[in-house]
Amino acid sequence: MSNFRPIIARINSSALKANLNQVKALAPNSKVLAIIKANGYGHGIARVAKALSQADGFGVASIDEAIQLRQQGFLHPIVLLEGIYSEAELPLVLSNRLDLVVHCFEQIDYLKSLSKHEQLTIWIKLDTGMHRLGFTSNQIPAFEKSISEVTCSLNINWMSHFASADIEIEFTDIQLKTFLNQVSTKLGAKSMANSAAIQTLPESHLDWVRPGIMLYGAYTMDSAKLSLKPVMTLSSQVIALRWVQQGQSVGYGNSWTAIQLTLIATVAAGYGDGYPRHAPSGTPVLVCGERMPLVGRVSMDMITVDVTALAESVEIGSIVELWGENLAVDEIAKQSGTIAYELLCGVTQRVPREDVMSREK
Ligand SMILES: Cc1ncc(COP(=O)(O)O)c(C=O)c1O
Repeated sequence: MSNFRPIIARINSSALKANLNQVKALAPNSKVLAIIKANGYGHGIARVAKALSQADGFGVASIDEAIQLRQQGFLHPIVLLEGIYSEAELPLVLSNRLDLVVHCFEQIDYLKSLSKHEQLTIWIKLDTGMHRLGFTSNQIPAFEKSISEVTCSLNINWMSHFASADIEIEFTDIQLKTFLNQVSTKLGAKSMANSAAIQTLPESHLDWVRPGIMLYGAYTMDSAKLSLKPVMTLSSQVIALRWVQQGQSVGYGNSWTAIQLTLIATVAAGYGDGYPRHAPSGTPVLVCGERMPLVGRVSMDMITVDVTALAESVEIGSIVELWGENLAVDEIAKQSGTIAYELLCGVTQRVPREDVMSREK
């Protein structure tokens, strides 16, 4: 792929390591299942796994991601977070020594085809209030009966997932209590905490924590006192500059109109790269290191920015940061009515990723 278009996502692996260390400091008695699904939240699964090799295991969403990790030589436990989607995946699960979430009766039925010589680690998922995946309390007896019909050797662990750990403390607390009640007499490891709960609810850390977004340096919690390091910096360059007169509009739909003589920088970044189309006028863009307001609609390949304040210094080729080291992805997400997860995962294929090490002294 030629890299002449100036947009690039730089991935700082030192930041990933530092963020993992913060997770370990917050949950010193728990193992860490680093969540690296969706191509490592858009950062590139292999490079993320390499940087996070000090994690105790990896969580992914598909067998393809898991096999990619095995092919790269990672020997860690790898958990398929939604389990398998059909029985046909079982031979690959066994040959790649993958661990499975089991969240429904159909998935238990798949396991009944395995012989008693096979060995498998499974994570039983309990529905403690999110109502998306897992067994509810009243399904547990039927679940136990069904699992007793599996003949292969099973190592059984237990997990659940918080629906709203970043905002609803009471609901989160009820979910945790429900989980602890359900598993109090069960053997095997237990896991519940995502990034938000790792930061706010130490009682939920249990045997394994499952951080995702915080590893990539997005905060989740407005009130967090942590200094997580942004991992991805998405940057590009100014490719055109023009003055527009008072009353002239900029971009599709003429949605923004200059109220005075304004210098507009056109930047090579658009929704075709994963920059959010719903970012409104006023969303900050760092041009030459200064916060300047986006103006007009985001197009597929370009955005337009009011750089009047930089008239003396800005030029074609000036560096633009869309989010990252100096501009929090959370801020851009909030402005655009979305979450950092979506922005990070949504950086498209055509944006080259480049590995960088931290420039910290
Ligand atoms: C089962 C499970 N555990 C943990 C996580 C990590 O969540 P977060 O990125 O909020 O830390 C996810 C992410 O969606 C998940 O699906």
